[in-house]
Amino acid sequence: MAKNRDPNKYPRQRTMFGTYEFPSCEEIINAYAKEFPNYIIPQGDTVFGFWMQTLADLEFLDLELQGLTEKYKIDAVNRVVNFKGDEEFIRLRVAHLEKVKGKTTLYTDFVDKFGDTNAYAFHNLYPYKGKFYPRVVRTLINAFKLNHNSFLLDPFNGCGTTTHEASLMGIKSVGIDVTPMGVILSELKNGLLFIEEKKLSFSPSELQDILKAIENKTWQHNDPLIYKLMLTVYFDTIDAFLRTSRYNKKGKIGLFIEKLNYIKDCYKKTMEIKDKYKLKFEPAKIIEGDVLELKNITEMKEKFDACITSPPYYFSIDYVGKDKIAYDYLGVDTKKVESKYLGMKNGNPKGNYRRLPPRVALYYEDLKESIKNIFWALKPGGKLAIIVGDSTVNGKKIPTTMMTKKFCEEIGFKFEKLIFNPLLGARNRAIRGESVIICHKPTKV
Ligand SMILES: C[S@@+](CC[C@H](N)C(=O)[O-])C[C@H]1O[C@@H](n2cnc3c(N)ncnc32)[C@H](O)[C@@H]1O
Repeated sequence: MAKNRDPNKYPRQRTMFGTYEFPSCEEIINAYAKEFPNYIIPQGDTVFGFWMQTLADLEFLDLELQGLTEKYKIDAVNRVVNFKGDEEFIRLRVAHLEKVKGKTTLYTDFVDKFGDTNAYAFHNLYPYKGKFYPRVVRTLINAFKLNHNSFLLDPFNGCGTTTHEASLMGIKSVGIDVTPMGVILSELKNGLLFIEEKKLSFSPSELQDILKAIENKTWQHNDPLIYKLMLTVYFDTIDAFLRTSRYNKKGKIGLFIEKLNYIKDCYKKTMEIKDKYKLKFEPAKIIEGDVLELKNITEMKEKFDACITSPPYYFSIDYVGKDKIAYDYLGVDTKKVESKYLGMKNGNPKGNYRRLPPRVALYYEDLKESIKNIFWALKPGGKLAIIVGDSTVNGKKIPTTMMTKKFCEEIGFKFEKLIFNPLLGARNRAIRGESVIICHKPTKV
């Protein structure tokens, strides 16, 4: 057919190689490969991390560069940044760039070493539900220009993401939580940064004895950190064992050793990064307590330069129930712990929340009270970032994000910014995304 074509109507087309021969597949690939650097290698020396995936990430990058640089320009199309500022400092702190002036950032080293953008250092020590992304905490610490003289607060510290990230960045922090298991985990993450490596070394037979002692409830150790570490590894082991015992060939002791080895590996990698960058970790102060009683700790009045926190999301996570194994073992009265949770007190709501179910109204009253206490604990000019999500209960969306923003403003905070961060994945989850609400306490109240 092609042979009979009218050449005037259908002029012969040259191929991309300037000939009339049709190129082979390899020739096409090779030709495009030569062009690739022009398209996919960023044209610059300060480049985005591959983990920057969403528009929220772009906003987070913008936010941290405001705190870290003197001047900057983001080129989102080419995934590069131009900036003026202290290169070394930015390389140690930034959470969204892979390279700064051609050199790998500390965050990239964490990601490469641990093979994950959030489970680095001891952040992944134990599966605490509803925890922060450490990268967001790092971003906010940068945005708020915190340094080694600053004090950071998280009054809903959970398993200690804020305090652990602050410690890694050399910033003093205080973490408060009402849940005993959260407190144990925060203390562990804190203590493991300062322990000697040899203290983590146990022979297989010693580990067998430890496991037996824990099971017989005779486990003791003169170092409270090792005592809690072994218990935590045990709780995690039992949980995994119950879920997998039918096909688990390692047995309890195998799992126990594997989980402890994971923590030892985290220790080794974290210390390698510490040595490489000559970091000075800062210990955090962890307190088991109720945010609604914060004012009882009088020395906390106007002590903090910033607060980065996330209150419990209304009815979405059973923080106490999911650690049943641990609480049964420790003999903790979970009903008592739960009664201190935001919105769990008895009685009728006092405020005007007529269209809301009373439980939600009680939760909002406590949330507002917590924000008042945070306001009290911040220095004038202090910064606040609250991370919240809107849960869906019986098909109805609970508008916590906008209520939180409203409470902050009513209490006296000056609203600055809201960034919505979608939680990608399952469609039917109760929480579809979370928002970071950023405010500050005015210098003159
Ligand atoms: C969304 S989680 C915070 C998780 C934390 N950002 C992390 O990364 O682990 C909310 C936390 O608030 C705590 N909480 C609930 N009511 C509290 C209260 N009255 N005082 C202090 N903490 C409370 C819960 O125990 C839970 O750990």
